[in-house]
Amino acid sequence: MNDKLKIKTVEKDSMNSSSEDNNILMDRFRTSLISWFSKEGRDLPWRHTRDPYHILVSEIMLQQTNVGIVIPIYLKFIKKFPTLQTLSQAPLSQVKILTDQLGYKKRGEYLHRIAKQIMDDFNGEFPKTLEGLLSLKGIGRYTAGAILSFAFGVNERTAAIVDVNVERVLSRVFGVWDLEKNSNFNKIIWRLSEDMLDEKNVWEINQGIMDLGALICISKNPKCLICPMKDFCKYYNQVVPKIIPLDNFFNN
Ligand code: ADE
Repeated sequence: MNDKLKIKTVEKDSMNSSSEDNNILMDRFRTSLISWFSKEGRDLPWRHTRDPYHILVSEIMLQQTNVGIVIPIYLKFIKKFPTLQTLSQAPLSQVKILTDQLGYKKRGEYLHRIAKQIMDDFNGEFPKTLEGLLSLKGIGRYTAGAILSFAFGVNERTAAIVDVNVERVLSRVFGVWDLEKNSNFNKIIWRLSEDMLDEKNVWEINQGIMDLGALICISKNPKCLICPMKDFCKYYNQVVPKIIPLDNFFNN
């Protein structure tokens, strides 16, 4: 059964809970996420670096492409173009030989253009603010948040990220149901993603929610029974019992 059919069965009562309830829920969510990620998080090459250029390359490559496909291409790319400067001076055709293997063919151009802009407009120094990053053509709010949190360890709301995985996890756990995905839905999800960050664990929280979305809270047949959020997740507690009689669910 697809997600849309499932969600249609739910009343929209979940957004009526008080902000105090939401704060408690957020605390539980954050604590469980950090703890789960420390045990189950994936060991991925871009998690061993804080170099903003390497983080940029990984995040652009990961847009719409699976981790498994990205890993070997990312490693070859970083070997061939180890710095922003080497990338900015390389012919685009050389860059595309690697990036075109990712499928969606614009990414080599984006990376090449961003490298040139940083060399030309920022003296080769990566911008460290949201505004600076967003001024680069090809960097949107998601990529900016990823660079701020993963490279610069920024522990502010500007380091929030929302991609499809983050959106799915937050909407399920906090019970934000909206079939139309209108701008109010997006605002609530971004707000939750900002609220999720704390003083010192921004890196773990942002990496962790991506892994939870990729490994457990997957789109079809989420693995609710082994999910660290199941005690308080609104999707698991309100939706799952309505769409699948509990006996069938537990026998699955
Ligand atoms: N998808 C996008 N960014 C990612 C990251 N840093 N780790 C795993 N998957 C991702």
